[in-house]
Amino acid sequence: MTFRVIQWSTGNVGAFALRAILQHPELELVGVWTHSQDKIGVDAGELCGRDPVGIAATGNAEALLALGADCVCYTATGDRRPMEAMRDLTQILSSGANLVSCTVAALVHPKSLPASMHDPLAEACREGASSLFASGIEPGFASDVLPLVLSGLSERWETIRIQEILNYATYDQPELLFEVFGFGKPLDQTPPILRPGALRFAWGGSLNLMAEALGLELEEIREVHERVPTEEVLVLGGHTLEAGTSGALRFEVQGIVAGRPALVVEHVTRLDDALAPEWPTGAGGYRIFIEGNPHMQVEFEFEDEEGDHSEAGLQLAATRLVNAIPAVCEAESGLLSALDLPLVTGRGLHGT
Ligand SMILES: NC(=O)c1ccc[n+]([C@@H]2O[C@H](COP(=O)([O-])OP(=O)(O)OC[C@H]3O[C@@H](n4cnc5c(N)ncnc54)[C@H](OP(=O)(O)O)[C@@H]3O)[C@@H](O)[C@H]2O)c1
Repeated sequence: MTFRVIQWSTGNVGAFALRAILQHPELELVGVWTHSQDKIGVDAGELCGRDPVGIAATGNAEALLALGADCVCYTATGDRRPMEAMRDLTQILSSGANLVSCTVAALVHPKSLPASMHDPLAEACREGASSLFASGIEPGFASDVLPLVLSGLSERWETIRIQEILNYATYDQPELLFEVFGFGKPLDQTPPILRPGALRFAWGGSLNLMAEALGLELEEIREVHERVPTEEVLVLGGHTLEAGTSGALRFEVQGIVAGRPALVVEHVTRLDDALAPEWPTGAGGYRIFIEGNPHMQVEFEFEDEEGDHSEAGLQLAATRLVNAIPAVCEAESGLLSALDLPLVTGRGLHGT
């Protein structure tokens, strides 16, 4: 069976998603939505560096939804427009299309959403007999399926720590880097992601999802962070970061059980590999630690065809969504998490 798919936006993750949809034997691309005026009318193949496929991008959402596609892959930016994104998601679900998305991090665990977010989405799923699955590489696979599968090998475990160690210098998302994470800003300014409750909102879903799977009740979710300034002027693409401004960020979001962190998501994000050498370092990717008996540590490293690990992370966010589409279309309607889906494998993707 082939599922008819609309790709919604063609940015960093979106272009990778488009490529993955076009290559997937169980998926058929039927439409592409774009926010950019200069991409309207451009062929989908061209928008992801492939040969033309005869489907032009459009900004007409109603016409796209009228195509009656099985699924929309929604990867439009949501970091500074979460409410608008939620409205889009609700509209798509109520139109009858299933939905996969990486846009709003908290949606990875619908059960722990506040009612103001959960209920309109659940109602839209009922109206459209549709399903929503939110994921990505992290929040998503690296902080749910991967550590949960490893935990199943334990005799006894005390702490599961998921560490993201990435250099975001090549991540072409200036809004996220500078306006949300506050890189290039003075250290006495608190960026939105470090306002009290923001890390908990974004990563609490991952911790609650793991807690649900592990049969744990989290007493609280704590936030910890530290920043390190750049030592010299840094030039990233068209952006210049003055020396002494924020150049590296480490944070932890901790799920507390019996007064101690039991589940931890830690991000070590540098714009320059030389910064904060005292923090964890690595080739770029995720590291999972399971403290207990036996102690387990897994390195999950990746790079794209050009050897760039940050780009490969975006690609993995896209493939996690796209490869889940058949399972999401076949699932009961409603708000899904990774715990509701069967094992998503590389079925049909073998190639040389
Ligand atoms: N969980 C994960 O693993 C993961 C990983 C990476 C990213 N993300 C999240 O996924 C989202 C996309 O990330 P990205 O790096 O792909 O972002 P991006 O490239 O900056 O933006 C995605 C696209 O959103 C569209 N867009 C821009 N402004 C818009 C607006 N005002 N209204 C509607 N659409 C608009 C544009 O599409 P067109 O170019 O087609 O106009 C843009 O290219 C973000 O919210 C990010 O936080 C999650």
